[in-house]
Order: sequence, then structure tokens, then C-alpha cells
Amino acid sequence: PSHEIKLNTGATIPQIGLGTWRSTDDEEAYNAVVSAVKDAGYLHIDTAAIYGNEVAVGKGIKKAIEFLGGRDKIFVTTKLWGTQQREPKKALQQSLERLGLDYVDLYLIHWPVALKTRNCPNGDLMSIPTNPENPGVRDVDLEDWDFTKTWALMQELPATGMTKAIGVSNFSVNNLKTLYKSPDFKIPPAVNQVECHPLLPQFELLDFCRENNIVLEAYSPLGSAGSPLLKEEVIIELGKKYNVEPAQVCISWGVNRGYVVLPKSVHAERIKSNKVIVEMSKEDIAKIDNIHKTQGIQRFVNPPFEPFPIFE
Ligand code: A2P
Repeated sequence: PSHEIKLNTGATIPQIGLGTWRSTDDEEAYNAVVSAVKDAGYLHIDTAAIYGNEVAVGKGIKKAIEFLGGRDKIFVTTKLWGTQQREPKKALQQSLERLGLDYVDLYLIHWPVALKTRNCPNGDLMSIPTNPENPGVRDVDLEDWDFTKTWALMQELPATGMTKAIGVSNFSVNNLKTLYKSPDFKIPPAVNQVECHPLLPQFELLDFCRENNIVLEAYSPLGSAGSPLLKEEVIIELGKKYNVEPAQVCISWGVNRGYVVLPKSVHAERIKSNKVIVEMSKEDIAKIDNIHKTQGIQRFVNPPFEPFPIFE
């Protein structure tokens, strides 16, 4: 199988993409992209303004485009940070400048929450101070603005040529329902990128996305850094059966369920093996589907800012 899916725009998206969150060292991020494309055959790179690596990732993509012989050979995604929800067009322009690209293939609202720019001097997203009581979480103010207005502005972007498709990220079923009912809603999101792995299998969201022709994209498919998933008994057993690493079991499970999977690594060997998909039997997929029943649902990625209002 080719491991590609069709978006509701008619475009094709490769089912495995390289995740770049926490690839913060410039050289590492650059090398990860180049080695993903040249040595491992990736044709899909996922980044975001807030990752702070668009310049380095963009340099890697430029190299990759030379290698592949055309911009249209590679699928590139970036994302709109919460401080710029009132001006997605300007934000996308800035992302394109940092990436050194004329267009991206997909532009996403990163979280369904708008943030104030007060804590973000000079538009330097990474300068937002972290919360001393909860390091790693950025201390922000919420903006009086909601994501349905952001979407109204996002809908203008495909016609500018700056992005081929638009979508969302970290949207719940209720967020999507709110979006679909909003007065200016015209273009359905092409994708919803969310945390998804065997301990957070997202059955309900996946069903909703399928019914509405939205492609689900799974981030942190390994459960993110230091994940207990790779030590999970069922995963290890299946790895032995199919003669692959536990990471490949998690990634293959996602691909077999029919959505896009975005494993992150900066290590060439892992990048390579994460791209090797095994076709699993229905019974084995069901075994992985059931892991959460004994282990419990676990979310490893919380919003990198507080407070996070519930829009449910
Ligand atoms: P590293 O970049 O050092 O390889 P996720 O994609 O779920 O967010 O998980 C990414 C985390 O898992 C990162 O910490 C990454 O670290 C690590 N990782 C990526 N691929 C593998 C693999 N094949 N085996 C073990 N750990 C991996």
C-alpha cells in the first residue's frame, strides 16, 4: 500500500509525517528533516510557529526539495499560535518567511483558544514567560475572541495561494460541532490534529471525523517523551510477533486505523524505523484498541499554557 490519504480538498497527504515539536536545537531539527527525506523516504513534515524551529526546519525542507526535485513532492504543515488568532493571514505570511517557502500544504489553528499578546514582546512567541509554579507551561492571558471568528479568517487563506488547505488542531467533538454551526462557516477543516495513541485511542473523535470527512492526524503517537507505551506488554508482544520495535507497533496501529501519524524523533535510526509500517491482523489491532481498558485513558500532552478554558 502507498500509505496516502485523500483530504476533502482533493489533495493527497502521506500517512506518515515527521513531527518536530521539541526539536529545538537548530542543527538537530535541520538534520532530522534532511535525513527523514533523504534516508527514510518521508514526504511530509509537520511544524508550528510556537515550536520555534521553522527557520531550521525550512532549511531542511529546502534541501529536501532540491533532493526530491520539486516543491510539490513534499507535504508541509505549520500552525497558527493563539496570540495571532485575530490575524491568521499575517501569521501565515511570517511562518512562510521563516520557512523560506511560497506556500504550505496545510495550515492549522494550533489550539481552540486565543491568547493575549501582552506576554509576547516583539511577536517572539518563545519569549512568553513560563509559569514558575508549573515550568514548561506558559503563563498567558486569554483573549476575548473565539475560534469560530479565527476560522472565518482562515477560510480566506486558500484563495491567497499561501496554503493549499486549512484545518484545526486540539479540537474536541464539541469544538467541531460549534465550528460547523457558526454563522460564517463555509469551508470544512481538512484535518484535526490531536494527541492519539493506544492509551488515548480517540474513538468518538475518530468516528466524528470520519463522518464529516475530516482526516484525523495523530500527534505523540508514541505517547511523547519517556512514554510508558513502549514498555507496555501487549505492544512488546506484538513487536516480537511482527519482528518490529514497540514504536513501530504504535505507529502501524494508527496507519492501519486509516489516519495520519506524526512520530517525532531527531535520531536518524528511529526516524527510519518509524517509517516502516507493518500490516497487522484485525485481531491484533483490536488487542491494541483494548489496552486502555486495563491501563486507563492517559493524556500526556496538556496545553502548553494556562488557563485553558473548557469550551464544552
Ligand atoms: P528522540 O527525538 O530523542 O528520538 P511522540 O512522537 O509520541 O511525541 O514521541 C516522541 C518521543 O519518543 C521523543 O522523545 C523521541 O525521542 C522518542 N522516540 C521517537 N521514535 C522512537 C523510537 N522508534 N523508539 C523509541 N523512542 C522514540
